[in-house]
Amino acid sequence: MREMKLFLPLTVFLIALILPPWLVATFSAIPGEVDNSVVLNSMEEAKRLVDKAYKERRERIKQKMRSGRATARDLMSFIKQPVAGTRTAARAADYLHVALNLLEGKLQPWYRRPFNITDVLTPLQLELLSKASGCAYQDVAVKCDDKYKYRTITGQCNNMRRPTLGASNRAFVRWLPAEYEDGVSRPYGWTNGAKRNGFTVPLAREVSNKIVRFPNDKLTQDQERALMFMQWGQFIDHDLDLTPEPVLTENCEHSCAQQPSCFPLKIPPNDPRITNRNDCIPFFRSCPACTEGNITIRNQINALTSFLDASMVYGSEEPLARHLRNRSNPLGLLAVNNQFQDNGRALLPFDSLHDDPCLLTNRSARIRCFLAGDSRSSEMPELTSMHTLFLREHNRLATLLKRMNPQWDGEKLYQEARKIVGAQIQIITYKHYLPLVLGPAALKKYLPPYRGYNDSVDPRIANVFTNAFRYGHTLIQPFLFRLDAQYRPKGPNPKVPLSEVFFASWRVVREGGIDPILRGLMANPAKLNRQNQIVVDEIRDRLFKQVMRIGLDLPALNMQRSRDHGLPGYNAWRRFCGLPQPKTEGELNTVMKNQEIAKKLMTQYGTPDNIDIWMGGVAEPLEPNGRVGKLLACLIGTQFKNLRDGDRFYWESAGVFSTQQRQALANVTLSRIICDNTGITLVPKNIFKANKYPKDFVNCSMIPQLNLSAWRNKTE
Ligand code: HEM
Ligand SMILES: *[C@@H]1O[C@H](CO)[C@@H](O)[C@H](O)[C@H]1NC(C)=O
Ligand SMILES: *[C@@H]1O[C@H](CO)[C@@H](O)[C@H](O)[C@H]1NC(C)=O
Ligand SMILES: *[C@@H]1O[C@H](CO)[C@@H](O)[C@H](O)[C@H]1NC(C)=O
Ligand SMILES: *[C@@H]1O[C@H](CO)[C@@H](O)[C@H](O)[C@H]1NC(C)=O
Ligand SMILES: *[C@@H]1O[C@H](CO)[C@@H](O)[C@H](O)[C@H]1NC(C)=O
Ligand SMILES: *[C@@H]1O[C@H](CO)[C@@H](O)[C@H](O)[C@H]1NC(C)=O
Ligand SMILES: *[C@@H]1O[C@H](CO)[C@@H](O)[C@H](O)[C@H]1NC(C)=O
Repeated sequence: MREMKLFLPLTVFLIALILPPWLVATFSAIPGEVDNSVVLNSMEEAKRLVDKAYKERRERIKQKMRSGRATARDLMSFIKQPVAGTRTAARAADYLHVALNLLEGKLQPWYRRPFNITDVLTPLQLELLSKASGCAYQDVAVKCDDKYKYRTITGQCNNMRRPTLGASNRAFVRWLPAEYEDGVSRPYGWTNGAKRNGFTVPLAREVSNKIVRFPNDKLTQDQERALMFMQWGQFIDHDLDLTPEPVLTENCEHSCAQQPSCFPLKIPPNDPRITNRNDCIPFFRSCPACTEGNITIRNQINALTSFLDASMVYGSEEPLARHLRNRSNPLGLLAVNNQFQDNGRALLPFDSLHDDPCLLTNRSARIRCFLAGDSRSSEMPELTSMHTLFLREHNRLATLLKRMNPQWDGEKLYQEARKIVGAQIQIITYKHYLPLVLGPAALKKYLPPYRGYNDSVDPRIANVFTNAFRYGHTLIQPFLFRLDAQYRPKGPNPKVPLSEVFFASWRVVREGGIDPILRGLMANPAKLNRQNQIVVDEIRDRLFKQVMRIGLDLPALNMQRSRDHGLPGYNAWRRFCGLPQPKTEGELNTVMKNQEIAKKLMTQYGTPDNIDIWMGGVAEPLEPNGRVGKLLACLIGTQFKNLRDGDRFYWESAGVFSTQQRQALANVTLSRIICDNTGITLVPKNIFKANKYPKDFVNCSMIPQLNLSAWRNKTE
């Protein structure tokens, strides 16, 4: 290892010793005092450290998987850091941030006061770091073919003026500046006793215990939403965002020490479940992104294309997308499982990991995790069912298109079927799903009628959206429900506690396939989010419990995550949305229309300013005929407006489909897609709303089919 030397001029050192601290602080902000070689040496050292840590971690997990001692954290590391492009993006950012940390450590002795490392580096030195890490090269050499008719897999070149907008493995857009404890990277709650707006930040687990927790036998069924309404939300979320966690990590799986990428949730006194206050709920910080502009203010990565483009079916990176296709013939098909079928119908192929987490959920069943466009497809069987459904729909469409157009080659068939599936996802989301999320008033406000593609609209997922859209966690029922063809509870396990189905791909393969699961989603109601019944304990106390020393608390993770991401608090977002910002308990009571929850929030946070965005969002009273309050309606509505207006391939955008094709597509329903790809013959007319069998169910023959004649023999 080369010797590290500091080339600070002696004068700086002397002045630092003599001058009063306030002057030193001023002085320390002068750039140009650090030699370039110090900067470059730090980068070299950072690369060595990061590469070593990556390697060790990979080995550690492999070993553990083999020995069957993997923890949920190990499993999560597989689903949260899946593919090559993400690793490259994350590693560049890791290099950069570790190098900056090293530099800070080296320079710290020279400055008595806390200082911002970027303030002592020159713009040229910052550029040097950006280049040496690889961050600077992520945006160069993106070439776009303006004649290409289809979406790229990575989302690049959707926006021709800024080709990387909405592309996978890029930083999220920030709608408001980040808020970190130290201004740049440390999350609120990191330092004991540190205050936010003058108030101590409560433990996320404490807020979850005191505000989110409720006796689950009191759960209220939603009279107007099916459980499918919940499931569609998670399915499309996995089209929009996946925030990767660090590849560089300390070993905090079994240690509760707070370390750079480890931000474990502390246990409050009198926790209803965890009695040992030295224990913790493990938490890994999302890995930093290469950011534009100020490179030290931490941002996070979206591993997926932001566009609502069915990337959870097709993948967000080229190598994966190729792998998902059936390459043994020119039929444009997606690859299917070649070991198992579901009553003669296709299942997703298995992932080919050497060490597979799903195997651990039932060792004798020997069923691996599935492979799909998004790496979380086996997280729960209901989600797996949705992935399976759309895999079949693609293959059904490709087969019909081939029959109609025998001259089309495999690529053409694949792209045309993919294009239709993408449109189907958009239509179901914009026409059927979002109106029931937002309610009519917010729908009108945030999603006015479509007026065409606008290349000035930024289609990137906002960092805050990845937290706000977790509103869906309030809709989750504590069971996996399965129903037979007569919609009666099916088989020996018709109602399995959710904590026993996470990663249980074996239940899809060995316990009757996707039809019983889809019926369960259609004929059971969603849970209703009420201000005293927010999230069930199956995910608040027992998330991933089967495979871990301690169950996770998803609501608490949501709050901790918003701090990890430097997201501003409740009132900052209320201001962003043009909504009044309550300052006192009385004003909060007015907003919440509920004295009890206003009081609880004030007790926890001291000021409404500090309420974590997810907590404040889901605590608000629901919009009339919507399932979110005013703040979440604004954040979710704004995001989906950007995703619609800023998407060059939005299904209604001029020139994407022909007029006849658009007319045919207007009839798309999720119910029909279920009719076309399963053994299910009775479906609801309004799949997200209706939920009583048999009252709200009709024969599939009553649901219009997609008329594909507009795709026949089109001459190019
Ligand atoms: C059984 C159902 C579900 C489970 C087990 C689940 C579990 C999780 C977990 C473990 C995370 C990561 C937590 C963290 O460490 O920060 C997460 C993130 C998330 N969840 Fe859920 N979730 C479910 C349903 C839903 C639903 C219904 C929605 C939306 C309607 C949703 C939206 C999200 C979003 C947007 C994220 C952030 C994703 C990212 O960018 O990485 N989830 N969920
Ligand atoms: C560092 O910079 C951030 C943002 O520019 C600022 O909020 C913070 O106060 C600065 N910290 C110090 C110690 O100068
Ligand atoms: C590819 O398609 C052919 C023809 O439909 C089928 O027999 C084969 O099993 C498929 N292979 C995969 C991996 O899906
Ligand atoms: C594991 O799967 C097998 C079917 O392959 C099933 O018979 C058994 O009950 C499952 N084990 C548990 C613990 O659920
Ligand atoms: C396109 O979007 C930009 C940015 O939101 C907006 O300022 C502009 O008015 C929009 N143009 C049209 C024609 O709607
Ligand atoms: C769409 O469905 C309606 C019935 O709901 C039907 O009248 C119409 O012909 C269908 N349009 C197309 C293009 O298939
Ligand atoms: C649905 O309708 C078709 C055709 O009208 C009929 O053959 C079938 O038996 C019906 N299915 C059910 C479950 O009622
Ligand atoms: C399908 O669409 C074509 C025009 O695109 C139309 O001529 C035909 O009648 C439609 N078929 C049905 C069954 O609606």
